[in-house]
Amino acid sequence: MARHLKRLAINTGGGDAPGLNAVIRAVVLAAEKQEWEVWGIERGYCGLLDELEVRRLDRRAVRGIHHLGGTILGTTNRNNPFAMQAVDSEGDPVRVDRSAEGLANLKELGIDALIAVGGDGSMKIAHRFSKLGLPVIGVPKTIDNDLNGTVVTFGFQTAVTIATEAIDNLHSTAEAHDRVFVIEVMGRYAGWIALHAGLAGGADVILIPEIPFELDSVKRAILAREARGRTFSLVVVAEGARPRGGDHVIQAPQNPTEALRLGGIAEQLTGQLAVATGKEARSVVLGHLQRGGRPIPYDRLIALRFGAAAVRLAAEGRFGVMVALDPPRVTTVGLEEASGRMKTVPLDGDTVLTARQMGISLGD
Ligand code: F6P
Repeated sequence: MARHLKRLAINTGGGDAPGLNAVIRAVVLAAEKQEWEVWGIERGYCGLLDELEVRRLDRRAVRGIHHLGGTILGTTNRNNPFAMQAVDSEGDPVRVDRSAEGLANLKELGIDALIAVGGDGSMKIAHRFSKLGLPVIGVPKTIDNDLNGTVVTFGFQTAVTIATEAIDNLHSTAEAHDRVFVIEVMGRYAGWIALHAGLAGGADVILIPEIPFELDSVKRAILAREARGRTFSLVVVAEGARPRGGDHVIQAPQNPTEALRLGGIAEQLTGQLAVATGKEARSVVLGHLQRGGRPIPYDRLIALRFGAAAVRLAAEGRFGVMVALDPPRVTTVGLEEASGRMKTVPLDGDTVLTARQMGISLGD
């Protein structure tokens, strides 16, 4: 099979996650060993559509990048080639399917297979291209860890590390001032980052989207600590958490075509808790700090393993799949299964049970 392949393309799509550059490096070096060329597509699929922005990635192009955050190829979480934003003759926004153009450009470039690195949105696109006959292999990335079919995505542990350090740091100032701190972490509609960083950081309350919370229950947890002489509390809240019967808190869009963005629950909850407990309360939103910077060694390693595994799959002629981690093994899962549903925190899993056994309030 390897004999038929000459040229791979690689792109990075969705929000960036620490480890993207490590994947690119592993793919390029492993492909060079097979005597294949690798071409990088800039900014997801955009580099295939507007101006053609693709570039040859050789050993020199990926030198010294395995430890760097971001992605040398750029990325976007706004442009889906099957529904690209455009304006019609009246100037109104419309969505246009430009996938055929993308496929034609890949053919023109002599690309034999695509390695698509991304989250659930990118895997959905990869699956659609795969159904149109493009040989595609997916590589799972997202700090949210919400991608189905893999136990973990790269980027997640780096985000958890950054969030845990922030919680550690807030302990001393919260204690010094007898304050309640509400720390908002990312994760979209899954509570992985909040649960893992909250537990590792010793939070008193952890609120995740999978468990709608009651304000009264959070208040009781804080006042129970107060009664034990612990006059400060740390509440970690996932951006997608919401009160029982209530809505998600979202940010005002910066332009009319922008996709819905979560954020603001910490500020809302801080005001409510200050009133409910009579204590001083402050909010901290960690935001994109969780995505920036260098990947921790764990993420670098799985990113390198994923990249190398993707090249092995290409050599075996196995396409339409995503590489996945089922520790200790790197395995594969069909693109349809990977992109079909979101992986949320299992409520009967031992991490949730650990929090409950330790008396951490989950707000229910
Ligand atoms: O999916 C990664 C993520 O960081 C989410 O946790 C967050 O909701 C979203 O992306 C933020 O997107 P943006 O970078 O467009 O603000």
